[in-house]
Amino acid sequence: MPAQIKPAWWKEMAVYQVWPRSFCDGNGDGVGDLWGVLEKLDYIKSLGVDAIWFSPLYPSPNADYGYDIADYTDISTDYGNLELFRRVLREAHARDLKVFMDLVINHSSDEHEWFRKSKEEPASPYHDYYFWRKGKGKKPPNNWKSTFEGGAWEYDGDLQEYYLHVFAKKQPDLNMANPALRREIKDILRFWLEMGVDGFREDVITYIAKKEGLPNGFPLPIGTGLEHYTNQPKVKDYLREFRDEVLAPFGAFTVGEAPMMTPRTAKEFISEGEDQLLNLMFHFQHMEADCILTDWIPTPFRLRKLKKVFSAWQRELRGVAWNALYLENHDHPRIISRYGSEKYRVESGKMLAAVYLLQSGTPFIYQGQEIGMVNNRLDSVEKFKDVVTFNNQKLFRKLGISSARYLRLANRRSRENARTPMQWSAAPHAGFSRAEPWFCVNPNYPEINVAAAEADAFSLLHWYRALLRFRKENPLVVYGDYREYKKNSRSLYVYAREHEGKRLLVICSFSEKPVRFRAPPGFDLLHGKRVFGNYAPPERQNDQFLTKPYECRVYLFE
Ligand code: GLC
Repeated sequence: MPAQIKPAWWKEMAVYQVWPRSFCDGNGDGVGDLWGVLEKLDYIKSLGVDAIWFSPLYPSPNADYGYDIADYTDISTDYGNLELFRRVLREAHARDLKVFMDLVINHSSDEHEWFRKSKEEPASPYHDYYFWRKGKGKKPPNNWKSTFEGGAWEYDGDLQEYYLHVFAKKQPDLNMANPALRREIKDILRFWLEMGVDGFREDVITYIAKKEGLPNGFPLPIGTGLEHYTNQPKVKDYLREFRDEVLAPFGAFTVGEAPMMTPRTAKEFISEGEDQLLNLMFHFQHMEADCILTDWIPTPFRLRKLKKVFSAWQRELRGVAWNALYLENHDHPRIISRYGSEKYRVESGKMLAAVYLLQSGTPFIYQGQEIGMVNNRLDSVEKFKDVVTFNNQKLFRKLGISSARYLRLANRRSRENARTPMQWSAAPHAGFSRAEPWFCVNPNYPEINVAAAEADAFSLLHWYRALLRFRKENPLVVYGDYREYKKNSRSLYVYAREHEGKRLLVICSFSEKPVRFRAPPGFDLLHGKRVFGNYAPPERQNDQFLTKPYECRVYLFE
């Protein structure tokens, strides 16, 4: 291992993300909950992961499914209660699984007590917990646009003031410049850490400081004001304060979510050393290989764009900081439907798993990804549930897009594709619930489900387990150097890892069509051990071969 890479548990771990509403319904009301999580802890452990990240479990009116928090120190009655959460925490720890909570502090819900007081008692200290401003004549205080819902300001007739919401109207932005608010945040962090929680995923953490004076932004079709509400220097001051006063003394792990992040800027947050502000950072660049800036502006998939991003992050962070690796979460359509192929679901799912799990970094796996769940198709927009889908419907209508076309787009590109209930078995409602689930189950569940995958030795599920086991058993995968080959290929992604005399060659085809592969110089496949392959082993090993659809082979050289 290069001298500068320091081993750490959080570099070696793998994390499973639970989006609780759709994971498992234990109490039979159609909504996933912590009773369901308890039932499935052994399953999660069996994957070979080391930690669970829970998307928000707090009380919430669900304008953004939990990312609008009404009480930061309680558990939603949809999911259980604090006592039940403590039990989940104990049971997880008993299985050597760490637990990370989702910390959403850029905004609260408008139903949080702080916001209610800020509005009803404008003379109270709570007024300054948010951004309340007078308008400019009949216009809002500035031209910022919300990521989720039109303008970023909402007018309150009683107060005759506007409040800022960079996301939905029901998600008023918190004014982190206020020290009393920061004290509240530190109390919240302490509350969960004292209970035994091991760390946090920090929602849109680079948004938590706004430019002083809230100046107008450069006008854009979407996201006007971004340059003033993301990545402000103050973000680091706040993170430093949270780290020094609370997180570091508890040894808590942190991963920050950071849209529009580049490796250069990321390093300002995650470079190791005295002033490391976060352990890891989720960036979005590799999620843009089939779209422009947002999932909703699709383009054909371009492998070269994907490889460039992966390799840049591998190279730039090497020896300086650590990568967070993911292909799915609750904010994006399913990866097989995007970068793989539903026709070759298992083959391409296996290839995609190898592509990212064998890179250098800490991998995150999103519920359902491990059984190859794919996008859903709904027959009307009314069946969707998400504020983003409805907001975009208005935007696209203005652009003259017909409702039929919009439905096709939403089915392909909405993040709701990742939010259908987890498919546990071929039983009614996919074994997710005894009752009618809160959101449509994907009709493919009789074929794609955990029980079927358990029973099939060649399933994607077993493949995930095997890859995670291999990673655990081979420091090469965690700490090895990374080198890319065949950079110009539009169909093949080939990279090698090297560590203490061992080498790994990862060969992945992103094409249905046969592609000729020749081993790069120095890799004699005849002398390598084929440790993974998503097709039957070749009858005769050769240094060159024609790939099968979405073929993936991994060779170990010792
Ligand atoms: C993050 C969350 C997303 C949420 C948004 C606003 O991007 O992952 O689900 O809608 O922040 O909180």
